[in-house]
Amino acid sequence: MSYDIAADIQRLKKEKNAVVLAHYYEDGDIQDVADYVGDSFYLAKMGQQVKEQVIVLAGVVFMAESVKILNPSKTVLVPDMEASCSLVKGAPYEKYLAWRRQHPDGVAVTYINSSTEVKSISDVIITSSNAQQIIESIPKDRKVLFGPDQHLGRWLSKKLNRPFELWQGACEVHVLFNAKRLYELIQEHPDAVVIAHPECDDSVLQYASVIGSTSRLLEEVEKNPAKKFIVATETGIFHQMQKKRPDVTLIQAPVMDAGCSCNDCPYMKMNSMQKIKHALETFKPEITLNEELRIKAQTSLDRMMSITSGKPVEWPKAFTL
Ligand code: 13P
Ligand code: SF4
Repeated sequence: MSYDIAADIQRLKKEKNAVVLAHYYEDGDIQDVADYVGDSFYLAKMGQQVKEQVIVLAGVVFMAESVKILNPSKTVLVPDMEASCSLVKGAPYEKYLAWRRQHPDGVAVTYINSSTEVKSISDVIITSSNAQQIIESIPKDRKVLFGPDQHLGRWLSKKLNRPFELWQGACEVHVLFNAKRLYELIQEHPDAVVIAHPECDDSVLQYASVIGSTSRLLEEVEKNPAKKFIVATETGIFHQMQKKRPDVTLIQAPVMDAGCSCNDCPYMKMNSMQKIKHALETFKPEITLNEELRIKAQTSLDRMMSITSGKPVEWPKAFTL
């Protein structure tokens, strides 16, 4: 009989009073062993709500840090502490602080794909599933500083008809989708619905009939009666799409370099079943945060949670650090 690592993980979860949260970009076996699978906002919310003492966040480190910021009494584990994100790497604290200081009157709206340090000097955190609602709640006369993802920021700025000061970061995976090759693919499949994550470049987004977070794209595949979709986001989400709609054809949007697997997020794909099992057995690697820093970062995440649950928030008049 072959070794069943999924059964081992299920047993360990019970023994250790643990729960596994997984992002849609993880491999299918990881999504299937998880208790909750979702987009980055859903994972942050579930991380705040679960009763179990131990949380394994099978995603990238900023997602696990967000859970720890919001729910500090839990033991929060990540399968691989090296699982970063190009947006986090492209927004170092000192530079972000200098940028904020250049615009002290602005409201700093920061994508959840950011470090805890950057969150600690932000006014509010957004994800692609709640950004519109959050930005609309900021008084119209306030300047918006948006970072670190320039593509998400540009798309939102156009959609909301509101100028932003933009940080020039990008997702190294989504920027690889190629507009010219996508156009050619659409000619070959005129019956396909094109769906895209807003981290893609403008030149790609112009061809998409639906643009949204991973959960929004999954919802589209689930509910749209079309039989074919061209999908411009990370490949891991195909697992849930195909589970919800086994009858549809899913086509990966093309990158310039045909045949590469560069639309796999190298950070998400650092995780494995073996590493999840190891985390449950050893309680390592564990997210630990300086308490003063955590409290500062929590303010911006709390504003996100308040606005999305319909509660009013106050905006600081100016940045003073
Ligand atoms: P979602 O919030 O849409 O899941 O996106 C997270 C992410 O990292 C996209 O690259
Ligand atoms: Fe970061 Fe891009 Fe990977 Fe998402 S897909 S975690 S934005 S590098």
